[in-house]
Amino acid sequence: MKQQPEIPVPDTISQKHRVKPDHIVHGGDIESAHRQYGTPIDKWIDLSTGISPLPYPDTKIATDVLTRLPYQRDSFRSAVRAYYGDYDFLATNGSQQGIAALPHCLKTLPIVLPDVGYQSHAAAWMQQGAESIHYPSQHVDAATRVIEKLIASGRAFHLLVINPNNPTCCRFSPTTLQRWSRRLVDGAILIVDEAFADLYPGQSVLAEGFAANMLVFRSFGKFFGLPGLRLGFVFAASSLLAAMRASIGVWDVNGAAQEIAIRAFRDRDWQTKTRQRLHHLAVENQKMWQCLFDSLRRQGYPVSEAHQLLFSSYTLDENPAKRLFDVLAQNAVLVRIIYLEPGRAIIRIGRIDTQRGQQVARINRIIRQSIDTMQLS
Ligand SMILES: Cc1ncc(COP(=O)(O)O)c(C=O)c1O
Repeated sequence: MKQQPEIPVPDTISQKHRVKPDHIVHGGDIESAHRQYGTPIDKWIDLSTGISPLPYPDTKIATDVLTRLPYQRDSFRSAVRAYYGDYDFLATNGSQQGIAALPHCLKTLPIVLPDVGYQSHAAAWMQQGAESIHYPSQHVDAATRVIEKLIASGRAFHLLVINPNNPTCCRFSPTTLQRWSRRLVDGAILIVDEAFADLYPGQSVLAEGFAANMLVFRSFGKFFGLPGLRLGFVFAASSLLAAMRASIGVWDVNGAAQEIAIRAFRDRDWQTKTRQRLHHLAVENQKMWQCLFDSLRRQGYPVSEAHQLLFSSYTLDENPAKRLFDVLAQNAVLVRIIYLEPGRAIIRIGRIDTQRGQQVARINRIIRQSIDTMQLS
């Protein structure tokens, strides 16, 4: 049997992992891209997020939804329960709001975090002054070995899993998560960020094995393609939800978000068709970009790739990654670049709707130009 290389169990945080909240770069910031590259806002193709390009279409809202204060409606609560499962929940202004509020509401313990992942988690815990420990999150096996060693050490900590991980695509089964939650010490919480789980509903711990010491974040914006509505959810034990509710305050979800989400959650037909279409889009989008990364490989650059339905992540050396980001941006295509240690970076590319022929033709043209430019550089 092949021997696995020994992975040391990390001790405490190293300086390189410290994320300052004001240094976090998020995707979708076309305004900044416009200021940097000068291209008018409406000319950009934004592939810098993992948001579905197939938004829920029925977004009209009645005026009284805006003229009334947005107390949570019964019909909203029942639509949420029908979609996610019959659990107690907190609705938030995007899952980001819950992520920022959580560390103040939990018992003070170190937090075990993925070394690469949605950075607002690390920032929130850092603001709280928590000690943090990082596990490698680019490969499931390496992550599993480190997490299991940490659990076996008997130390007390909260554990965060982003499932599937953005941007590494690393994914754990609900059975693994249940096993870990059972082995955490009393008072410790397994936090599962399922912002991208709508694409694989059977893989959610809400579908199977949700435990009292788990907290699950869900995001409405990704799969339903409406991040501007700002809607997210937290599922956890009632006492923890009460602490978070107190920190977030009244009118947690605006009226427009409730109104549109009620229809979107009830529209099973749209959900099923959209999942099917996103499967096709993922395959077609991956094919489209393949020639660019194959060309980089032929030039001697090592490129590894990971995919999930709403984005693909290509890991390469930092210099060609920066160059590629720049070449694409000069052609008005915005992707995400995520810097890793040491000297490597991820180029994360979101999806376009391949039924939009003009956009596809433009991307294909830009990919060909980028191949030529990268060959000359
Ligand atoms: C893994 C993950 N969690 C949470 C969020 C926050 O999403 P939102 O606040 O729009 O629900 C994001 C946004 O990109 C994300 O990638």
